[in-house]
Amino acid sequence: MSEEREGRLAGRLVGLGVCGSIAAYKAVELLRLLSSEGAEVAVMLTPAAARFVGPLTFAALSRHPVETDVLGLLPDQRIGHIVVADSADAIVVAPATARWLGAMANGIANDAVTAACLATSAPVIVAPAMDGDMWTHRATQDNADRLERDFGYQIVPPEVGSLASGQSGIGRLADLASIVDAVVAAVDGRPVRQPDDGQRPPVIGPARVPDLEGRHLVVSAGGTAEPIDPVRFIGNRSTGRMGVAIAEAAMARGARVTIIAGRTEVALPAGAAVIHAESTATMRAAVIGTVVDHPADVLVMAAAVADFRPRRPTTTKLTRDEGLTLELEPTEDILAEVGARARELAPRPVIVGFAAETGSLERAPEKLRRKGADLLVANDVSEPGSGFGTDTNRVVILGADGSRDELPLLAKREVADRLLDRVVEALDARDGGAHTGPTMESTR
Ligand code: CTP
Repeated sequence: MSEEREGRLAGRLVGLGVCGSIAAYKAVELLRLLSSEGAEVAVMLTPAAARFVGPLTFAALSRHPVETDVLGLLPDQRIGHIVVADSADAIVVAPATARWLGAMANGIANDAVTAACLATSAPVIVAPAMDGDMWTHRATQDNADRLERDFGYQIVPPEVGSLASGQSGIGRLADLASIVDAVVAAVDGRPVRQPDDGQRPPVIGPARVPDLEGRHLVVSAGGTAEPIDPVRFIGNRSTGRMGVAIAEAAMARGARVTIIAGRTEVALPAGAAVIHAESTATMRAAVIGTVVDHPADVLVMAAAVADFRPRRPTTTKLTRDEGLTLELEPTEDILAEVGARARELAPRPVIVGFAAETGSLERAPEKLRRKGADLLVANDVSEPGSGFGTDTNRVVILGADGSRDELPLLAKREVADRLLDRVVEALDARDGGAHTGPTMESTR
């Protein structure tokens, strides 16, 4: 487990299912109480619950992704509610509505909370909250009985008090302390079900400090196009997703960003300066202009740059009758040129290259040295979920210092942030450990 915690639920993972009752706001406080008892909490919302309290509130407080969709996948493609079902020590559904009791009693798994309860072997604690007449209705009572009698769920019954309708009666969500006590009692004496963090729901990092504030980052993105004639070109499958993810993540961390865009299939973020540069030659000019002539702090060459171009592109369209034999010449290696020229710059920009390989990454360390990069992000583009046109990537980040960081399959945005963590380290090392960006304190 990542953090040492104290309390009656230390080391436990509790799944908190929230349904669409006015009492949903109390689930925020319940989350806080469970956390203060040492539990990690993974929240699941029914669609109606998400209308009462936004998932962001629960995500920020729990630091875990919030499951709102029975079909929802985690960034690493695991099924969210199944991960909770398989790793939670207990699931507590609070508030549980009349509809939810009915769905659960009948095994109708059309929301993430019901689906997780159906799929789990952990104890389930249910704290209903609703209008008094709804609670005492025969249907609701039968459903609650079924949960208790047939499924072994523990019901923490609602209390008497003032209700949302303005009336007073039975139906108020039980006192939160008694719900916490029921969770503690349910797990008492049982071993921690899933101590391996990797099998639990992922932890969302703390809110990012603006650790790239004051920095200028240049990112090339997309693929280059080398003209054959005015209508045809030699291109590649790059969509620009990875470069755009890096640009967005860098801006979120306070950087000023210039995107040098080849051909892209995704929207370029507002807020970045954009230079369109389709051919390798124009991309080279743009990179030299923004990184060498007016030194930037960081260059990330995420673009898929052509290695060859037609030696003599024609100014008129080639016709089919002429037949076609293309003579190609090598293009300039932009990364290698900047890697070499950057040595004369002070301060020297941090240079990041990419290496799209197929099958094996064994050429990557040599590529890093040859191109003079500080960091090289290597991936096997033939692997499912990695490479062009996907939202995920599995990469290895190689450092000029010989480091090798193998990351799991992650959303490209997450890959971007992991890479930027390394970039920030490299900038700090370059500046002699002096962090020129603002501290946490000064940004509050
Ligand atoms: N790159 C570049 N200029 C080129 C070719 C590539 O700046 N003419 C950059 C890419 O943007 C990437 C890195 O170099 O950051 C590695 O690109 P890659 O195509 O994997 O390497 P190549 O040098 O083309 O080597 P090879 O084709 O032999 O794999």
